[in-house]
Amino acid sequence: MSDKFVNPDYVAEPEKMNVKKGLDGAVVDQTTISKVTPETNSLIYKGYPVQELAENCRFEEVAYLLWNSELPNKTQLAEFEAKERSYRDISKNNLEVIRLLPKKCHPMDSIRTAVSYFGTEDTRIWDKASNPDKAMMLLAKIPTMVAADYRFKKGLDFIPPRKDLTIAENFFHMCFGKVPNAEIVKAFDVSLTLYAEHSFNASTFATRVITSTESDLYSATVGGIGALKGPLHGGANEQVMHMMIEVGDPAKAEAWMLDALAKKKKVMGFGHRVYKYGDSRVPTMKKYAQKMADVIGDQKWMKMYDILEKTMVSQKKIHPNLDFPAGPAYYMMGFEIDFFTPIFVMARTTGWSAHIMEQANNNRIIRPLSEYTGTPERHVKTISER
Ligand code: COA
Repeated sequence: MSDKFVNPDYVAEPEKMNVKKGLDGAVVDQTTISKVTPETNSLIYKGYPVQELAENCRFEEVAYLLWNSELPNKTQLAEFEAKERSYRDISKNNLEVIRLLPKKCHPMDSIRTAVSYFGTEDTRIWDKASNPDKAMMLLAKIPTMVAADYRFKKGLDFIPPRKDLTIAENFFHMCFGKVPNAEIVKAFDVSLTLYAEHSFNASTFATRVITSTESDLYSATVGGIGALKGPLHGGANEQVMHMMIEVGDPAKAEAWMLDALAKKKKVMGFGHRVYKYGDSRVPTMKKYAQKMADVIGDQKWMKMYDILEKTMVSQKKIHPNLDFPAGPAYYMMGFEIDFFTPIFVMARTTGWSAHIMEQANNNRIIRPLSEYTGTPERHVKTISER
């Protein structure tokens, strides 16, 4: 008689399971943070259209909204900003960790390591009640970490943060030693708002999976950074600019795109799992990328943008996503290309933290199933029998 346990309630699995490759179309939880509606190309954060937030609010107000569900009044914003600004410094050891990283490592690996190190400095690591404060610390310190890495990679000295500047202004100050004109700062601030949150995308879902094991906010954020790095997700904003530089000239853009499509290449900055008729964030970011072109007095990248978009849409009906205008916008602001995705991290830490707190406050461990397609059950032969 077999000693194999058989559950008396066992019901045989259907022949073919309903596999949702890439979780395509799977609804895995509820959220109050944001909603993407592809039919109307819309995205709301806590009910507010993202375009309205980008035009009328600073990134700090949007961070407050994502964490507190309402936009702040003047007093609330002043308190929020005072706290954020008081947290901007990083420890000498944290700075040293960034300085000692290999000069050639990608800045996404730097920020992943810097955040991970910072997690070791916080003794409240298992205390869920401290999550709002930890989220604020990351919002304040990640720009300092990214800017430090920016300076060290160029062989330059670290520029400490200033407490009299907004997050956007202070980041320019820490990277370049000066704050540019208001138009450039506004375009950068808009990009942070547009990048802040986007429902259950790959990196946010990664943070929720990690949080669901009752792990801590820093571990979840490190996981989010790892997921965001990939070129199919946040890394696309860097690849867009590499692609535009490869194209080189607007006059070559149509032929370049036709050739890429004929070779069945994935063209970076186009397509989206949820949006199929265009990305809600693109018109706003394109408008500010155009402003950057006007500020620097060079229309080359925006001319190329239009031709690449027109060719892709007419050939494949695939539309640009946010990374398409963000890439050239950051380039025209003067940032090195491999810092585009770390800038995305600076913004998305707000959305990640909102999701981490939502998951932690109403948790069930995330543990999906898979359909086994390997060798059917068999039995072990001893080494001499094999
Ligand atoms: N370039 C060329 N073809 C693309 C494409 C792109 N950027 N995006 C999608 N397609 C094609 C797919 O290859 C697929 O073709 P097939 O049916 O012949 O296999 C078809 O369009 C449908 O793809 P879809 O199911 O919509 O893609 P997905 O949901 O699996 O993937 C992305 C979504 C975002 C990963 C994908 O569009 C992509 O890789 N884009 C480039 C990277 C990028 O910009 N990422 C940032 C996203 S915000």
